[in-house]
Amino acid sequence: MDKYVITGGIPLVGTVRVSGAKNSALKLMAASLLSSEKTVLHNVPLIRDVLTMGEVLREIGARVTISPDRVEIDPGGELSPTAPYELVRRMRASILVMGPLLARLGRARVAMPGGCNIGPRHINYHLSGLEKLGAKINADHGFINVAARNLTGDIINLEYPSMGATENLIMAASTARGRTVIESAAREPEIIDLAKFLTSMGARINGAGTDTIVIDGVESLSGATHTVIPDRVEAGTFMLAAAVTGGDVEVTGANPLHLEIFTSKIRAIGVDVKEYDHHVRVKGGGEYFSTDIATLPFPGFPTDLQAPVMVLLSLAGGHSIVTENVFENRFSFVEELNRLGACIRTSGHHAVVHGNTRFEGAIVEATDLRAGAALVLAGLCASGVTEVRHIQHIDRGYEDLEFKLKGLGADIERVDTADRISTAVT
Ligand code: EPU
Repeated sequence: MDKYVITGGIPLVGTVRVSGAKNSALKLMAASLLSSEKTVLHNVPLIRDVLTMGEVLREIGARVTISPDRVEIDPGGELSPTAPYELVRRMRASILVMGPLLARLGRARVAMPGGCNIGPRHINYHLSGLEKLGAKINADHGFINVAARNLTGDIINLEYPSMGATENLIMAASTARGRTVIESAAREPEIIDLAKFLTSMGARINGAGTDTIVIDGVESLSGATHTVIPDRVEAGTFMLAAAVTGGDVEVTGANPLHLEIFTSKIRAIGVDVKEYDHHVRVKGGGEYFSTDIATLPFPGFPTDLQAPVMVLLSLAGGHSIVTENVFENRFSFVEELNRLGACIRTSGHHAVVHGNTRFEGAIVEATDLRAGAALVLAGLCASGVTEVRHIQHIDRGYEDLEFKLKGLGADIERVDTADRISTAVT
């Protein structure tokens, strides 16, 4: 298994371009199943999760071509309703084929996702919403079966603005009879991107980006061509890389409006951030101050930047309190960060970060994608050499991370390159 070997202490300087958003691209790929015509997606990041979604769609019967500048999906042939366990286990986002398959075939059989490293991650809101649209649901042998001869629009009030549930329901409702209203919907930029994509396929969707989304079902959807929005979590990670190394980095291709709360928090910590239309410039190196952070659904502070921002808080003077409100188990990286010299104590959903840390290189293991990013950030500002193991987690969501960091002057090497992501591109 590959690992990163990082020699820290180098201020990162230069320009880095953000890739397309993982958490949008995966849903757009799933949504392509709603039409029998070909879809073309641009700005899809070449990451492990995209390759896995490609496998899911092929397993279902679509023809999928993934190349650096475009992903083509042709779901015109005969489709199977089944998303198998091996693929859903590898990537939970596979459950996003449930809504499209139900709409297109009248049924879907999707393996139960089970737990993952950041918590149990239930799908009860997905299922109760689909039930409201008329689907019958049962489970057998570790699979969930959903079936409906015809879906019919209704008012769905989500108890919590779940991103995945909102997405599955928008997709299922796109060709349902009549009007669907999703109340307390998720408001993430990726939801807006999905709605734009579906609209270009012929769907009638209003209110994406607000907490009430109205979908008027149409007879059928056509294929479409679409460019994926920039990855706000990747952008935030590079902004933090500049800050923790005391560097000066322009993060291009980013949308600062997707990062407002994050930016205001790191400014409060003492980072110099200048925002432009499509890029941000981040200068680090001054004095950093403690602050409290609570993760929340968009537009709140993103849970996906909670682990990475802990590295910056560790460098600040004083104590900071971080509260994780979205996932039940998203502090698993803390022990590893502490092995690099951080002093963070957790209790339930809270973490107290004791500042003034001087990170020192050590061997650590990534426990999930964003935990892995945090360990890389700590390695970049640590004295000596840091080895980050289990970087298959990082490969799931960051495109060319080590190349992009090297471009900014970082000393980072991938060791054991036999399974490089580019060799898996089909
Ligand atoms: N939840 C339920 N029932 C449901 C759905 C969700 O209880 O039916 C709970 C979950 O257990 C979790 C919380 O609600 O505690 C949030 O779940 P949500 O459905 O909003 O998240 P998701 O769709 O599973 C996506 C991203 C995550 C990101 C979250 C929050 C993708 C593929 N994943 O997950 O991204 O953290 O939204 O913004 O889009 C990552 O990229 O590292 C990542 C984990």
